[in-house]
Formats: sequence, structure tokens, C-alpha cells
Amino acid sequence: MNKTLRTPVIAGNWKMNNTPDETAALIAALTPLVANAESTVVIAVPFVDIAAALQATLGSNIAVAAQNVHWETNGAFTGEVSAQMLKAIGVPYVVIGHSERRQYFGETDVTVQKRVRAALNAGLQVILCVGEVLGERKGGITAQIVRAQTEIALAGVTAEELKSVIIAYEPVWAIGTGETATPEQANEVCAILRDLLARLYGKDAADRAVIQYGGSMNDQNAAELLAQPDVDGGLIGGASLVAEKFAVIVNAAG
Ligand code: PGA
Repeated sequence: MNKTLRTPVIAGNWKMNNTPDETAALIAALTPLVANAESTVVIAVPFVDIAAALQATLGSNIAVAAQNVHWETNGAFTGEVSAQMLKAIGVPYVVIGHSERRQYFGETDVTVQKRVRAALNAGLQVILCVGEVLGERKGGITAQIVRAQTEIALAGVTAEELKSVIIAYEPVWAIGTGETATPEQANEVCAILRDLLARLYGKDAADRAVIQYGGSMNDQNAAELLAQPDVDGGLIGGASLVAEKFAVIVNAAG
């Protein structure tokens, strides 16, 4: 594997946190701290904060993501936002299939696939989340679970389109729990996913694919996780809400 083929992507997932004013303030604090980053920096903000985030990140190296997207272009889908709408206001990235959406909002592998399709059709870059729950890890079926989630989500995605997909491996038992996968565990599953991509798209495409780890990554453990050969960045929840902590993670990558 040649890690130099890939630029790490450090993405903050703010989840349901921050008002537009708080968004502007957090970005103002973060901007100088990550100005020299060698990694790509992304923040995934609530829909109502997107306008403020786009404004506050102008001229910076911080890109904005939405945290979800619907698969239809428009229509009678109360409460939903389409990929075309995100594209129209200049949002480059969208997080799809986060485990909280799977756990609490009925997201399935099939709806994840539809969202990925819609996002790619609209020209958005996707951060696709996959990961096993604790029982699946204990049952020894982590590899099968993440392979199935990824393969279904990517059904119909071409090798060219894969360049616009980042995969985030997020073991559900490590999200928001303070319990992190060990660097070896994180790397093992990221490598399994890269092998799957090699089978589906060929080695070159797999070597170029960005595969993140997420789950209680913080300023203390990031360097070790990000140093793993198949870990190309992180998706960070809690620690992304504190500019100084997130900046340490960003600057640990590259
Ligand atoms: P956490 O969240 O860093 O708070 O565990 C990660 C995520 O949900 O993406």
C-alpha cells in the first residue's frame, strides 16, 4: 500500500450542535490553527448552520459538509434536503449513513445506497460511514458487516465516481463512548475495506481511496491512529467541537 498516494481527510462531525453564531465563532477560532494543515479539513454542520459556515470559511482551507441528504431531487418530502439544494448553495461534501442515522432514524443499507447515488449525481463528495455494533464485533463478524454495508452502498458507483467517495470506518461501540478502537483494530478494518475496493475497482483505485477511522478520536490518540498505514484520516465528533482539540488532530495528519 502506498500511503503517499492519498491526502488524509480530517472531518469534524458537529452532529446537532451549534447555532449559526456559534458556528461562526468556532470557525474563526479554528481557521488560524489549521491554516498550515497538510490534510484536507472538513466540518459537517447542521443544515441551519451551513450558510454561516460557508461564509465563515471563505478564503480558508476548511470545507463544509452536510450531515445527510435525501435521494430525491425535490417533491413532497417534508423535512428533507436534496443534493441539488446542497450543490446550489456551494456545499462540497455530505456525510451519508452515519450510525446515528442508522440507529435512530431508520437508515438502512438500501437508503444509504440511494443517498450516495443522489449525492454523486449532483456532484457532491461523499463521506460514507460504515461500522459494526458491539455484538457484531464480539460475534466475530465485523469484516462481513462492513464489507456488506460498503458493497451495498457502492452498488452502481463507478471507478470514476469512487474518487468522490471517502469511506469512514466507525465502529459503533466507539462512537461517543470514549472507547476507541486500538490503532491495530482500526487499521485492520480499514485494510479490509481497501481490499474490498481492490476487488471491486482494482488495486490502483483502492490505493487512492481515502479511508478514515472514526470513534472517540481525540487530541491524545489521533497521532497513533493516523499513523496506521491504512488509516487516511478521521471523522471526529466530540473533539471537533473544541477548536484547539480539533486542530491538534488536523495537524497530527499529513
Ligand atoms: P465521536 O463521534 O468522535 O464523538 O466518537 C464520531 C462520529 O460520530 O463520527
